[in-house]
Amino acid sequence: MRTIDNLDVAGKRVLLRADLNVPVRDGKITDLTRIERLSPTIRELADKGAKVIVCSHFDRPKGKRVPEMSLAPVAGALGEVLGRRVRFAEDCIGIPAHQAVDRMAPGDVLVLENTRYHAGEEKNDPAFAANLAKLADVYVNDAFSAAHRAHASTEGVAHILPAYAGRLMQAELEALDAALGNPVRPVAAVVGGAKVSTKLELLGNLVGKVNVLIIGGAMANTFLAAQGIGVGRSLQEADMHATARDILTQAKTRGCDVVLPTDAVVGAELKANVPTRTVAVSGVPADGMILDVGPATVAALNDRLAALKTLVWNGPLGAFETPPFDAGTTAFARAVADATSRGALRSVAGGGDTVSALRHAGVLDKMSYVSTAGGAFLEWLEGKTLPGVAALDA
Ligand code: 3PG
Repeated sequence: MRTIDNLDVAGKRVLLRADLNVPVRDGKITDLTRIERLSPTIRELADKGAKVIVCSHFDRPKGKRVPEMSLAPVAGALGEVLGRRVRFAEDCIGIPAHQAVDRMAPGDVLVLENTRYHAGEEKNDPAFAANLAKLADVYVNDAFSAAHRAHASTEGVAHILPAYAGRLMQAELEALDAALGNPVRPVAAVVGGAKVSTKLELLGNLVGKVNVLIIGGAMANTFLAAQGIGVGRSLQEADMHATARDILTQAKTRGCDVVLPTDAVVGAELKANVPTRTVAVSGVPADGMILDVGPATVAALNDRLAALKTLVWNGPLGAFETPPFDAGTTAFARAVADATSRGALRSVAGGGDTVSALRHAGVLDKMSYVSTAGGAFLEWLEGKTLPGVAALDA
């Protein structure tokens, strides 16, 4: 993959595919992480004299101009993070885009309006990709988190212009390769979250790649129930029992050690500060709901950590948004952070819930690497080829 290491961009127009799809609540950006992580690439290109033309999708306007989904406010936030003037073009192709690009001087930064205002973006329409490409001399993709989409701005345009990976794309791929492609072993994956059905491909891929697979969250309930353990009123997927048993068999065949909770924190409902009981998984009351892993499970996971060299984490261990069911995830996250800080472990985490859980535990900046990607991180864990990445290889 070509990086921007030796790319001479002085005076050139660089179309930079970013992922400016940042979380917004009540019109305010609630998390600047994606913008901050993208900034080094913009600074590097601009400082080398490029005219940096940033394009991105924002939300899902489905080919229409939805005013609430304009990138204008995000362009403002990018300017603040960069500490530089950032201009904005009202459209990502056509006259408004060309006029804005024509006015640029070397070192300038321009943000184009939401690519998904055009239906051609998600269709990967060659004519739309060609219109984007006309704006620039070179294409740099720094949007790993959108690389699972074969869209015009993530894939199509890479076949028209000379294409390179930006610094964030490069960092994501290097971190993920060190975590699962060529990990220092033993390597474990922690997979949590609600449903086996949404993470089936991921579990199937992981059992062939990791030495230890730690399963938490409501997904673990399905695995317990599949083995005949009563889980009371806990969230679980009865139609996934056979699949769960099959995953356990596959793991055994491939020498992957699956770790399930041995105890659980149980409540009558998922509500903050309801009365709880900690029980062995064999003793979950018929009217109880498993809402977190218990302290014996956390202690067992912490013991496991001592033998691990690499850990990939996707999905919380319990209902961490609702206290006290955050305790298991927080305790384990802190142990992972501690092992990472001591240099004993390489820890790579990704996915929206996981990032929130790590932030909640106060250890987000203590992991070796936290991916900015949600869906793309999942697809990568599933072992899929990401079209936006593959197009850069071509
Ligand atoms: C994300 O936020 O995960 C990416 O920006 C992709 O967004 P999408 O799921 O709307 O394609």
